[in-house]
Amino acid sequence: MSIKRVWQGFEAVLHALVLVMSLLLLFTSPWILIGRQLTERAGFWDLFHVYGGLLTAMVAVLFLIKVCKGGQWRLFFPWLIFDVKPLLSDVGGLLRGQLPHSGGKGLISVIEGVGVILLLLVALTGVAWFVAEPANALTWRHYHIMFTHGFIGFIVLHCLLGLLHIRDFFN
Ligand code: HEM
Ligand code: HEM
Repeated sequence: MSIKRVWQGFEAVLHALVLVMSLLLLFTSPWILIGRQLTERAGFWDLFHVYGGLLTAMVAVLFLIKVCKGGQWRLFFPWLIFDVKPLLSDVGGLLRGQLPHSGGKGLISVIEGVGVILLLLVALTGVAWFVAEPANALTWRHYHIMFTHGFIGFIVLHCLLGLLHIRDFFN
């Protein structure tokens, strides 16, 4: 099997992988208390969070590549080139009570792009905590937790908008 075929297969499961890992890390986070660094008192979920988190950080970078390649970044990050007309028309539609459609450069895609950025910020601040001197680790922990809260907001919104797909079955 060629490397291209392997990558294509991997690409197809990337969203599922990001989804499962993010939810696992989020839902098990009430059971962790790590602080400045891992110590010999670290429990299973502490270790899972740090090493599973590092793995998720790598998956997040691959996911970024997947959503950007082949010019697709224009769909998820159209605001980078001030291409905001589809976004504004979706927002205008919402104000008139019309729900947006997925695909294109509209609201749903822009939110997905913001989600990728938030996941990367969560991952980056996690990695920064890992490599920081213990004296600086609490600052990175603070930023990590801050971006996590933003990321949870994205997941809630993204799941709600995902429900709109059900509408397509009836059309
Ligand atoms: C990339 C996906 C990741 C997600 C979704 C995630 C999610 C979370 C969540 C939800 C919390 C708890 C926030 C709170 O208490 O309100 C947390 C805390 C934390 N995370 Fe992550 N994390 C990720 C990656 C990482 C990585 C890569 C590291 C380090 C290698 C890391 C280290 C930590 C630490 C040290 C804490 C604070 C734990 C404590 O002392 O209470 N995380 N993370
Ligand atoms: C938590 C449960 C999740 C559900 C139910 C879900 C559902 C969906 C659905 C139905 C789509 C297709 C929507 C469309 O056609 O535009 C989609 C696409 C997408 N989702 Fe999620 N998702 C979840 C988690 C996540 C997470 C954690 C991320 C991380 C950033 C994410 C990022 C994306 C992106 C970037 C796309 C568009 C690119 C692609 O289809 O691969 N999703 N999601």
